[in-house]
Amino acid sequence: MEHLSALPLRVAREDDIDRIMELEAGGFAPAIRESREVMLTRLRHFPQGFLILEHGLEQDGAQIIGYLCSERWTRDAADGGLFDPAHFTLGHDIRDTHHANGDCLYISSMTIAPAHRGNGMGRRFFTQALALLRQRLPGLRASVLLLSAEWQGAQRIYQSCGYTEIARLDGFFADIAQEDAGAIVMQLALDR
Ligand SMILES: CC(C)(COP(=O)(O)OP(=O)(O)OC[C@H]1O[C@@H](n2cnc3c(N)ncnc32)[C@H](O)[C@@H]1OP(=O)(O)O)[C@@H](O)C(=O)NCCC(=O)NCCS
Repeated sequence: MEHLSALPLRVAREDDIDRIMELEAGGFAPAIRESREVMLTRLRHFPQGFLILEHGLEQDGAQIIGYLCSERWTRDAADGGLFDPAHFTLGHDIRDTHHANGDCLYISSMTIAPAHRGNGMGRRFFTQALALLRQRLPGLRASVLLLSAEWQGAQRIYQSCGYTEIARLDGFFADIAQEDAGAIVMQLALDR
């Protein structure tokens, strides 16, 4: 298997779905986990935007330890470049939101296996996955993502990659919040 970057990243395949769902369970509370059907639809509809992080040598049986999935969105000039909050909701169908030539890369989810966290792997994975997607998807001019105000690790990663807050959605994570149920929408300009 040829890898696409310094970390062993590759495009996801349908037969990765069982492991992807294990990672989903390790990364997110039950109330906000995506279903197998949603993930499979993402894989089938926009495979180039669904990246897998491996660990270990292929001859010893490389393990999948992370995934990142994305969509291409079209920014609506009429509303000043912001997005329909419904597009961020759990279970939304990528076929309704993804446009093959959309100029905004929406990172819909990312996680790495708990045993591999805390050593800078999350930042390296995200940084290299974003660089790879930019390289392989011409025409991107921005990236957007949404996260819980309580996910400080993820927030630090996105900030260090240059993403800045552009909106808050109050109560978005009411089902899982300890104290702050708000969601933060972050954006990064990709103009060269
Ligand atoms: C988010 C995630 C990928 C980060 O992976 P990681 O390997 O732990 O991240 P890193 O080791 O690269 O740490 C990145 C930064 O976050 C900080 N951080 C990590 N976990 C943290 C936590 N629980 N609380 C506060 N800060 C944390 C690190 O200290 C580091 O900060 P720095 O800017 O000082 O270097 C991982 O925790 C994960 O999969 N979480 C569950 C799913 C998730 O939240 N996904 C993001 C969805 S938007």
